[in-house]
Amino acid sequence: MSVEATAPGKAILFGEHSVVYRGPAIVIAIDRRAKITAKERDDERIRFDCLDLGFEGYFEGDEYHPVAGEEWRGNRLQAMLVAARKTMEHIDKTSGLDLTVRSDIPIAAGLGSSAAICVATVAATGELLDGNLSQQEICDLAYEGEKMVHGTPSGVDNNISTYGGVLSYETGVGIEKIDFQGGLPLVIGNSKRKRSTRRLVARVRALRDRNPELVDGLIDSMGEVSRKGLEAIKARDYPMIGDLMNINHGLLSSVGVSISRLDILVHAARGAGAYGAKLTGAGGGGCMIAITDPDKLRDVSRAISRSRGEPHIVNISYEGVETRRLG
Ligand code: MEV
Repeated sequence: MSVEATAPGKAILFGEHSVVYRGPAIVIAIDRRAKITAKERDDERIRFDCLDLGFEGYFEGDEYHPVAGEEWRGNRLQAMLVAARKTMEHIDKTSGLDLTVRSDIPIAAGLGSSAAICVATVAATGELLDGNLSQQEICDLAYEGEKMVHGTPSGVDNNISTYGGVLSYETGVGIEKIDFQGGLPLVIGNSKRKRSTRRLVARVRALRDRNPELVDGLIDSMGEVSRKGLEAIKARDYPMIGDLMNINHGLLSSVGVSISRLDILVHAARGAGAYGAKLTGAGGGGCMIAITDPDKLRDVSRAISRSRGEPHIVNISYEGVETRRLG
């Protein structure tokens, strides 16, 4: 028997970085998903087929044995390995596993690829071994894997990937599911520069340590932008969402997480008539996001392409993690 689990990526509309400290992040699940297929093995190996990314290998204990691709690729699998092992520990079952990983979420781009992969790994492993996991258990176990990649992440990524839709998330408080239907006219632009969330979060923390009062003021302003942003989203007030995105981008630049490639894409989108645009996710590369009149989605996409970004017109995904038995 094998099991397939899928989970969506995400885009943060407001509140990245500030959410690590306080105040809400407003986040949507997007229609790009990670898919994990899990099968039991007769031995104790945990084998990963990531052939879309050009590698395959297995862990025997903690030792990685490459089958295709370089040995260092094993480091990239640590989050999934932890997610699978914590799941087995939690449900008090153990087995060797074959895990096949497929995803159409760009990697290391701020779109929640690692969280989606961890969430889907937990869900697939839990279902395969009859763990009967609740959504909250899947979310919490995925967080254990996320910590391997990001240090101490806020938890926003694993929550949105588990629950889908539109969420307000606050560290230490949890999620509020936002009653919202349909789409938003959003374009994501990928700068195609990979970056590490862990490093960017550490950079903001170091800046805050050096300038606590100033940076705390910026964090509070970002929280206020998020709260106003949520009201504007509920009211579908696109021009107001745009204004708040522009302000949020300025605040994120102030804490040092934008780069010129992102600024160029943000300005290209605004120049093509978007109501507003900002970086999304940890910054330092990765993606920006713009809100526009629905009639201008194509213009904004073309402007992002012309500025050497990779545009994606995205829809909100109302399906969080999903699991099915393949027989
Ligand atoms: C990463 O998707 C968002 C950050 O706020 C980090 C976090 O929340 O853990 C930059």
